[in-house]
Amino acid sequence: MSIQTDGIAPHGGHLINRIATPAEREEFIEQQDHLPRIQLDERATSDLVMIAIGGFSPLNGFMEQAEYESVVEDMRFVNGLPWAIPVTLSVTEEVAEPLKEGSWIRLDDPTGRFIGVLELTQKYRYNKAHEAVNVYRTDDINHPGVKVVYEQGPINLAGPIWLLQRDPHPYFPTYQVDPVESRKRFKEKGWKTVVGFQTRNPIHRAHEYIQKCALEIVDGLFLHPLVGATKSDDIPADVRMRCYEIMIDLYFPQDRVILAINPSAMRYAGPREAIFHALIRKNYGCTHFIVGRDHAGVGDYYGTYDAQYIFDEFKPGELGIVPMMFEHAFYCTRTQQMATTKTSPSSKEERIHLSGTKVREMLRRGELPPPEFSRPEVAAELIRAVQGQPA
Ligand code: ADX
Repeated sequence: MSIQTDGIAPHGGHLINRIATPAEREEFIEQQDHLPRIQLDERATSDLVMIAIGGFSPLNGFMEQAEYESVVEDMRFVNGLPWAIPVTLSVTEEVAEPLKEGSWIRLDDPTGRFIGVLELTQKYRYNKAHEAVNVYRTDDINHPGVKVVYEQGPINLAGPIWLLQRDPHPYFPTYQVDPVESRKRFKEKGWKTVVGFQTRNPIHRAHEYIQKCALEIVDGLFLHPLVGATKSDDIPADVRMRCYEIMIDLYFPQDRVILAINPSAMRYAGPREAIFHALIRKNYGCTHFIVGRDHAGVGDYYGTYDAQYIFDEFKPGELGIVPMMFEHAFYCTRTQQMATTKTSPSSKEERIHLSGTKVREMLRRGELPPPEFSRPEVAAELIRAVQGQPA
């Protein structure tokens, strides 16, 4: 396993900062009533933020056609740098038609607040089926990521962006740690190696097990739950964050862990998204990244370890972050401990693991998931939330 001795370089070598300076901001505000206006949805809003704070470095805006096509086709930018997911701003023909290339576009968030500016360098059509099949490995409209592609407009608007300001997150202000800040904190702690953990689900014992196995190898653990848009049946971010607070309080060595939010939206693109998730954590300063079973998967669209195999498509060192792969983890009743298919001789009947759907059903019926699956304090928090009791 490669050991970094100094802070890891951001993807592309340079951490992007597209937060408008006070002078730029003033200029944009002065012009706000004269600029053509576009209302962003939740995903585009979080993409704007991620670009601005450097989470999507080296992107400094929404992708132009050549970059988009190269990423969809080859998982690389035109210059060969790996990148797995298109970051695009798609609009209807009616919205695109009057917009002039070379002009500034005012970007409003879903509540109508002026939050950013796009310097429109290109408008282009794209092939939805091609994007779906290449990025999501399916064109099934029932796939939540594919559904978004099919429902969005047929024209992509491209060009560099500015974010007008970086407000504290309305719900998680203390966990809003941008890449500049996470890098600083890792340095202050003297961590030379840091493993990033992506998650969109409430923490269970298999998560805890692979996090701690990884932490046995590296200096620090960066718990980075995704709090942008998710499917409507995923457990809401505030509940997940409370579960993490409980876990860190009771079950983690606090000086070895940093909890921070990842503002981006889920794509459910499985393997391709694992690469994307790893590169984002590289930008936050992580040297390693956890990829477990069916990472960023949904339904039966991907094989259990497809999100691990995809890392073989890159030469060692090309991604600049080391994946730490874990097989399916569970509680093993034979050895009476957490284990994976790699380390346990158990039969299927000797493994305790529950699917997310099963857990949600249990919680709705008021049943606590067993302690072999979930820490009791987390289970109690989940049941409270699912049954709508106040925090
Ligand atoms: S994800 O969409 O963010 O991948 P989730 O929050 O469930 O979903 O998973 C977070 C990380 O933990 C992913 O890397 C995933 O592969 C891994 N993971 C989840 N459950 C298990 C498990 N039982 N065994 C091994 N890895 C797991």
